[in-house]
Amino acid sequence: MVSLGLLTGSSPKSPVTAVFALSTALLSLGIFLHIYFLHLWQGPEYTSYEMAQRHNTQHTKPMTWNSTIQVIPQIQLEEFTKRPPIPRQGPEIRQVVFAKVHKAASSTLQNIFLRFALDRNLSVLLPKQLTSIREESKEILPQKVVPHPEGKMFYDILCNHVLYDEQEISKYFKDTAVRIAIVREPLKQSLSALKYFFSSWDKFQALHKGFNKHKKDPIHGFLNNPQDFYVREAGPSHSYINNRMSVDLGFELTDFEKSKRNETKVKTFLHRLEAQFDAVLVADYFDQSLILMRRILRWPMKAILYLKVNVGTLKKLSSVWHKQPNLNSQTLNNFRKWDAIDFQLYHHFLDIFLKRINKELLFNEELNAFRSIQMDVKYFCMYNAKAKTLDVPKGQWTDAFTLSRTDCKLMTMSEPNFVEMVRQTQTKRYEEFKRNL
Ligand SMILES: *[C@@H]1O[C@H](CO)[C@@H](O)[C@H](O)[C@H]1NC(C)=O
Ligand SMILES: *[C@@H]1O[C@H](CO)[C@@H](O)[C@H](O)[C@H]1NC(C)=O
Repeated sequence: MVSLGLLTGSSPKSPVTAVFALSTALLSLGIFLHIYFLHLWQGPEYTSYEMAQRHNTQHTKPMTWNSTIQVIPQIQLEEFTKRPPIPRQGPEIRQVVFAKVHKAASSTLQNIFLRFALDRNLSVLLPKQLTSIREESKEILPQKVVPHPEGKMFYDILCNHVLYDEQEISKYFKDTAVRIAIVREPLKQSLSALKYFFSSWDKFQALHKGFNKHKKDPIHGFLNNPQDFYVREAGPSHSYINNRMSVDLGFELTDFEKSKRNETKVKTFLHRLEAQFDAVLVADYFDQSLILMRRILRWPMKAILYLKVNVGTLKKLSSVWHKQPNLNSQTLNNFRKWDAIDFQLYHHFLDIFLKRINKELLFNEELNAFRSIQMDVKYFCMYNAKAKTLDVPKGQWTDAFTLSRTDCKLMTMSEPNFVEMVRQTQTKRYEEFKRNL
């Protein structure tokens, strides 16, 4: 190869060859980098961070958080009482509060929780209508939720959207219910939210307003001018692109723009979450998250199987939305300032998560066993229509279990349909309960 000749030092015969060789080398480098970044950007959901972890190179630098807000040492933070550790031995845990965060693989997790609940006749706290309990404010109104099927005070499972507030949650769930949250790399999460809500439910036409201003390259327009896609008067709870993960997890909404830059406030928020949740999972490490969750909840392997749901297909979106963002440091820093709470949230809990799974014994063995079963499940559910059931034999990491076509159907059911189905089941149970009073 010409470029190889240049690299190994053999002298080119003429200046023309030299120029040709140089340009070929640059071209291949260009193609390589292009493919590399494409992969980094678009590649399978969870690889870019794994790559970032493995190669601590310049390419991955922009992905790590170097705080634009200086950490002031010795700020006095409020103390929060941590939840007691959960013993690993015992029956499966059936009371779980899952803080669903927008566009963070949480519909897939919701599907897992709904299947778990349905299988065991558990009571899920559900909105009377649609799929969100509350998205704009923290209060959970009793008249807006489906009554407990046995008329009790405390439910078993939460897996629909709320703005997380421990005081509100404690009205519906026992303190012993395990609290789980999830976060995702903020740039991916924001772009996913931007595209998803642009094509589905654009409140106040905020995203269209920004789109119209940055028609040629809305992605870049957004990263450089997120405020153009935002209605400031409406506030962060009416938007999905202003630190939405932190909003979902209960960050104080008043004086939001000012609070973003208030180190004490953000750090206090993170410490509060650390104390409130038994685990904060990471969507970028989805399978690892499921294994950690299963260990904490002492769940059988069957309970955490999944087929992805609610992944934006972007079919309706025009090609400008498919542009690769130019991740230069100015664009990134600009967006990090806008999304400051979410970036700190993410890196804080990513760090805790990675340390935590590193301490787990035989974690990768279990992960591999899970992934192997997952492949059989995918094949059975999606490509092997003839077989009636899939029998998974007992192994080191699993009891024997059988998967039916119904299981497949539930695993691929859309969020609105599944929520509606569970709602109807619970409403029936509630009516029966009233009749027997
Ligand atoms: C759930 O409830 C149904 C109907 O009441 C009942 O037939 C079934 O056995 C229950 N399942 C479990 C696991 O309790
Ligand atoms: C930052 O937040 C803390 C805690 O809420 C507050 O006491 C402080 O006055 C805030 N600082 C600024 C500069 O607003």
